[in-house]
Parts: sequence; structure tokens; C-alpha cells
Amino acid sequence: MKDEVITREERVANLKGMGCSRKRVEDARFTQGKGNYVDDIKLDGMLFGDFVRSPYAHAKITNIDTAAALEVPGVLAVLTAKDLEPLGLHWMPTLAGDKQMVLADGKVLFQGQEVAFVVAEDRYAAADGIEAVEVEYEELEVLIDPFKSMQSDVVLREDTVDENGKPMDGAHGPRTHHNHIFTWEAGDKDPTFEVIDSAEVVAEETMYYHRTHPCPLETCGCVASMDKVNGKLTLWGTFQAPHAIRTVVSLISGIEEHNIRVISPDIGGGFGNKVGAYPGYVCSVVASIVTGKPVKWIEDRMDNLMTTAFARDYWMKGRISATKDGKITGLHCHVTADHGGFDACADPTKFPAGFMNICTGSYDIPTAYLEVDGVYTNKAPGGVSYRCSFRVTEAVYFIERMIEVLAIELNMDAAELRRINFIKKEQFPYTAALGWEYDSGDYHTAWDKALKAVDYEGLRAEQAQRIEDFKAGKTRSLMGIGLSFFTEIVGAGPVKNCDILGLGMFDSCEIRIHPTGSAIARLGTISQGQGHATTFAQILASEIGLPADSITIEEGDTDTAPYGLGTYGSRSTPVAGAATAMAGRKIRAKAQMIAAYLLEVHDDDVEFDVDRFVVKGAPERFKTMKEIAFAAYNQAIPGIEPGLEAVSYYDPPNMTYPFGAYVCVMDIDVDTGVTDIRRFYALDDCGTRINPMVIEGQVHGGLTEALAVALGQEIAYDEMGNVKTGTLMDFFLPTAWEVPNYETDHTVTPSPHHPIGAKGVGESPHVGGVPCFSNAVQDAFRAFGLRHTNMPHDHWRIWKTANELGLHG
Ligand code: CDP
Repeated sequence: MKDEVITREERVANLKGMGCSRKRVEDARFTQGKGNYVDDIKLDGMLFGDFVRSPYAHAKITNIDTAAALEVPGVLAVLTAKDLEPLGLHWMPTLAGDKQMVLADGKVLFQGQEVAFVVAEDRYAAADGIEAVEVEYEELEVLIDPFKSMQSDVVLREDTVDENGKPMDGAHGPRTHHNHIFTWEAGDKDPTFEVIDSAEVVAEETMYYHRTHPCPLETCGCVASMDKVNGKLTLWGTFQAPHAIRTVVSLISGIEEHNIRVISPDIGGGFGNKVGAYPGYVCSVVASIVTGKPVKWIEDRMDNLMTTAFARDYWMKGRISATKDGKITGLHCHVTADHGGFDACADPTKFPAGFMNICTGSYDIPTAYLEVDGVYTNKAPGGVSYRCSFRVTEAVYFIERMIEVLAIELNMDAAELRRINFIKKEQFPYTAALGWEYDSGDYHTAWDKALKAVDYEGLRAEQAQRIEDFKAGKTRSLMGIGLSFFTEIVGAGPVKNCDILGLGMFDSCEIRIHPTGSAIARLGTISQGQGHATTFAQILASEIGLPADSITIEEGDTDTAPYGLGTYGSRSTPVAGAATAMAGRKIRAKAQMIAAYLLEVHDDDVEFDVDRFVVKGAPERFKTMKEIAFAAYNQAIPGIEPGLEAVSYYDPPNMTYPFGAYVCVMDIDVDTGVTDIRRFYALDDCGTRINPMVIEGQVHGGLTEALAVALGQEIAYDEMGNVKTGTLMDFFLPTAWEVPNYETDHTVTPSPHHPIGAKGVGESPHVGGVPCFSNAVQDAFRAFGLRHTNMPHDHWRIWKTANELGLHG
């Protein structure tokens, strides 16, 4: 038999299963221009819709005149809040339990807010129609600063106060001021304050994690097509959570869920931007119902940057206490969170500040207390997890800066301070002071490996020499050594504590094995470039013994895929990846019974071996999975149903906690503020590695977005609420020019509760990268008295820092 001459190693290699750097199967179509993005969808008679947007950040609308717009050739309809009101669609629920205007209802709360929706025969006619809509505004006082907003008499959201102007309770409890949204606490306040107040050493710092934006290359958009004959609505769109969108559309439109089909085609990056529901989706659906024709809405770049889902915007005030020899004893963090005009943050319901309560980081901190106040301002809504698991990026930035500030206070090396406070390997599973149970970790091994790889001591010696040379006037360049050690928290999440809009955050996989031994697996997640079609087939290949090349992975069509909560927060591998393995194991269990029948032995007398079941102790007697698949369809097996299919809905028992150790070596020209990243070393531990090459790609991408955020990317406003960074001329997107040559490395500490031991990885490099780049800048100036300076560290701000430290003579 042909099989017998193939070695076991060859059989393993043929599968291209877990651990193999299998080439991405998606890339053949992407590199040949054969991707199918939402804007590629063209339907007969399709119309185009676009928005009249507010030029003001805060204004009353006294009149909207659409008459002239309706005269513009090609314009068919103009929708305003008045048209949506009878349908109850002029406001929509947000993921954070607040509500948001779909179209301006009497006032606007941020620049770029959607005021009217013009429906036309094409994009150009829509643009002409937008020009012709006349809106009268009465400007109101603008509140951009959350601290001022909390002091102001100006009520931003009249719908959130009672007839006496008193704030009504919000989705997350009592509100203390009319512009206050919630207070969220975690940990023990009094014990923490006692520890900090009586500590030998206390370091305090306030830091602003600036507002930024995920800025995927493909902007948000959709095509809505209402078939009035069969009552079916099809919605194609850039949805990171297609099933959740279907449920939301059903709830707000009243169309039964079985009559709605949501399809996420190829998606050109999401990074959190495409999780929520936007007015464009609602208006396109309404316009399609009204006109009976398909309606497309695609944002342009300015729309995307100015109005959809911002990230961060956290003011974080910290106090950290320690003994004189550097053992941390307590941590207090207060956050003022600027949520803009509507609270549209995308977080699990019970976590209004996401996973900010992982801000004790990788350290064994006995007592901690976190409080977060959400505030309304005149900025765009959003609050999404830009390439991170909810607010973990903010949390990690906070603790990694606090460690550096404490190191300054203690006059200690920051690498050593980390080492003496890491949670030890034997402490896992470790329950942190703010409640999370970390599943596994080996931080000391990772840290030692990283420091050795970069010759940390050598770098510090070089830096000391550079400082001497600078002081002696021999150089105008300083050297920063950025360190960060992060623990992520990914895989939301256990249904017992994680839901979005009441939908538990499980995920799913359904597998069908075809008679000839190939398969299709459908998942509740949706790739936006992460390579799921490649890697999930690898999980299955190892689990069911069919080659990855014979397995199709399909996601994103709610008519065919099992219900799942989608892809964001690096949850795909921890949750849907686990569902895939579990469904694979169901297939294997049935295959075992079939194999035993075919081999005429008891079920317990066969065992799985790579791609077959063999009789224990008689390896020459076996049935391959291919043979078993065929038998499942063509043989009557007593007591066993025909076919070979399985489905798994996986509710993870816990999150997974990937971690990593990063070092950045940066030269800074003191006179120009120009940074040069000489070296960037990234060690990631994401547990069992499915595809090392895909992981490396994820690390490169995450680090590049971290570089962007740390060194220049921001959504900035002037005091009138005008967005100053609404185009890619002003909003920094790094190119190959700015990006250094990353050195990647890894350790492997499997998750004990995940069926294959895998943890997520897509976002870790972003989470760990931002503080690493920032710490490099700050470290360069530590010897000259800098304690902390806020990101983004663009050349101008670095120059200013140098100037303020008196380094320009
Ligand atoms: O949810 P998302 O896909 O953004 O993130 P992820 O679960 O971290 O996965 C990103 C990509 O890396 C996927 O293709 C994963 O299958 C792959 N990955 C891997 O190969 N090994 C891991 N341990 C984790 C992720």
C-alpha cells in the first residue's frame, strides 16, 4: 500500500497542521486583485447614500431645507431625523447601553455628526445633493475637555437629565453630573489607600493616553438590499461581528432575524473600528426599504477618521507604592474617560471601562484600586479597542509607565524593578488584586531571554557613554532604551461575565466532512486580514487528520455560519479556535467508532495517529481518516448515523493571558527631535503556536501600529471642536520608511484551559509595543530629569521636551 512507504514525519508534514508555517491561502486572491470587498459589490439598480455632516461640534439645528437637494439630478430622497422618527429609528442603541442619534435630532454633538442622508443614483449625485441641503445651526458652547465638561453648566445630553435638569441613572448606575456617564470601580479602596499612604516610597504620575483612531485601510461601509417580494433583507458590510449586527438590525427594525442575512465579505482591516453599529447602516437599510432598491454607503477617509469609533482618550492618574528595595505594595489608578457625545464604547456590558482592571500588569501587587469616570464631551463617539482587548492597551501603558516612574523615584534600574516584582511561575494560576485569574505565565524566563538577546548591560553601558559624550559636547544625539513587559487578557469571554447587548460571548465552529475526505468548517468569527482560512484549517488538520489544504474555512455569512460574537479583542483563537478543536474532537470520536467497526475491533482498541486510527499494538492495521469519511457516507454501520458532521459552541472557562518582553533601542537627535529606532526586539508568548509565520506577521503589524500611536498618530481637536487630523496628511500612518527591522522571538507557555493550549496574539504586540516605544523616548531623557511626557512623541513634541529640559543651550 502506498501509505506504508510514507514515514510518520511525512504524514505529519502532509497535514500542514499546527506548528507549520503554512503559506496564507488567502493571499493568492489578495495579491491578484481578486479580493471581494464591500465596495466591490455592484447590484442592479443600486443607489448610493451619503451624509450631510455637521460643521459644528455643538449646535442647535433650527431648520433643515431639503427642497433644493431634491431638485439635483440623480437625487431620489433625503432622509432626516423627522423621517426616521415615525419608525422609531432616529436614535439607536449603542453597545455601551446608551443611545445615539442616527440623524441629528434637534442638535449636533460633534463635528461631522450625521445630519441628513442623501440617496442618489451614484456617489457624485449624492455629493451634489449634500451640497444643496440647507441646514441652519445655532452654535452652542463647545466642551472638549472632560474635566471642564464635568464642571460646566452646559448640558450636552438633554435626554439624560430629568425635568429638573438632574442626571438620571445611566446604563452603569448613578451619575454625579449631567455630563457624567458612569463611575466604575474595581479593587479595594480603603486598604489600598492605607498601604499607599503609609508606604516607604510612593510615585505619582498623571498621564494622558491621547485620542487616536484604528484607521483601517478600508473604511466602513455597507450595501443594504431589501427584497420586498420575499421580505428578505440582505446586508453586506464591514462587520467584525456579523451575527451581532443581524441581531441588532432585527431588534431595531422589527424585521425577524430569519429574514435578515448579514454578510461580511473580505474586510480590509478592522482593528476595532468595525465592531459597532453606525448610522450609515441604519440609513442604508431604511433607504433600501423606502426605495425598494439596494443602497450602498461607503465612508470616505475624512468621515472615517472624524466620526467612526475613536480609541483611547484616557486621562490616567496613578499612585504606586513600594518598599525602599523596590517591592511594590499598592497601586491606585483613577481614569477620566472621554467618551464623546454618545457612549458608544464597545465593551462587554459589565465592563464599562473594558479590561482596564488588568492594570496591575505582570506584577505581584498585593492591593490595588481602580476607578473610572466616563464623561460626555463634544467629540465623536466610539471608545473601541484599537488592536487590543478592550482597554488593555491603556492598562498596560499605565502600569509600564508607572513602573518607569517608580524606578526613577527609587533610583533603580527599570529592568531590575520589573524582575523583582514579576508574578512567579509557581504562582499561576494567579488571582490579581483587581480580580482576574491569570492562567499561565513564565515571566522571568521571558525577561531574561529578552535582556540577554539585546545585551542589556552592554546597551546601558553604551547609553552611559553617550550621556557623557553629550555632556562633553561630543554628540547631539541621545540614546533611549525602551522596556516593556506586558500581560494581555484575550478571549472574551466566559459567558458568565462577558456579554455584549445581552449576547454571551461564546463562539462556534461547524464542520462537515465530505465523503471523499475533504471538509468545510464554518465559524462565528470573521477574518479582517488575520489569516483565519489558513490557521483554523491547521487546527482542524491536527485534530481530524485531514490535510489543511483539503479544508475550506468559511466565515461571515449569517445564513450559513453558526452564531458567534465575531472577531475583535484577539478572541478568535482563544474562543473560536477552541470551538474548532472541540468540534474536531467530536468528528474524531465518531470516526473512532467507524474505524473500530471497519477494523472489527472494540472502539477502545483503536487509537488516533496523525491521519488515521490504528489498532493498538498492530500499527499495520489501520483506517485513514479519508477512508473513514467515505465509510461514513456509504456504509450502513449499526448504531451509527450516516454522515460526519459536528458543531461546537464554546464558552471559555477563562480568558487567556499571552505575555511578552520587548526592548526598543532608539537614538534621538536633540536638536530636531527626530527619532531613529535602531533595534526592536519582541518576544511573544502566545501559548501553543498554530502558524509561526502568521504570528510573525501579526507581531510586525501590531508593532507598526504601536509605533504609529506612540510616535505621532492622534485625533486632535481645537477648542472649537474642529478635528485637526482628519486626513492622512495630518493623521500619521507609518510606511516602510518609518518602520524598523523587528527582531521576533518567543517562549511557549500553553494555556492550561484552552483545548490546544493557544492564547491570542493579534493584538499583543500593539499592547506591549506602545509603552515600549514611549519608554524609549522617555528613557533617553531620564538622565536629564524627565519623569514623564505624554504621547504622541512626534518630532516637535520631543524637541519641546529637550527644550524644556534646557538641552538646547
Ligand atoms: O481574533 P484575531 O484573529 O484578531 O486574533 P488571534 O486569535 O490572536 O489570531 C490572529 C492570527 O494568529 C490568526 O490567524 C491565528 O490563528 C494566529 N495565531 C496562531 O497562529 N497561534 C496562536 N497561538 C494565536 C494566533
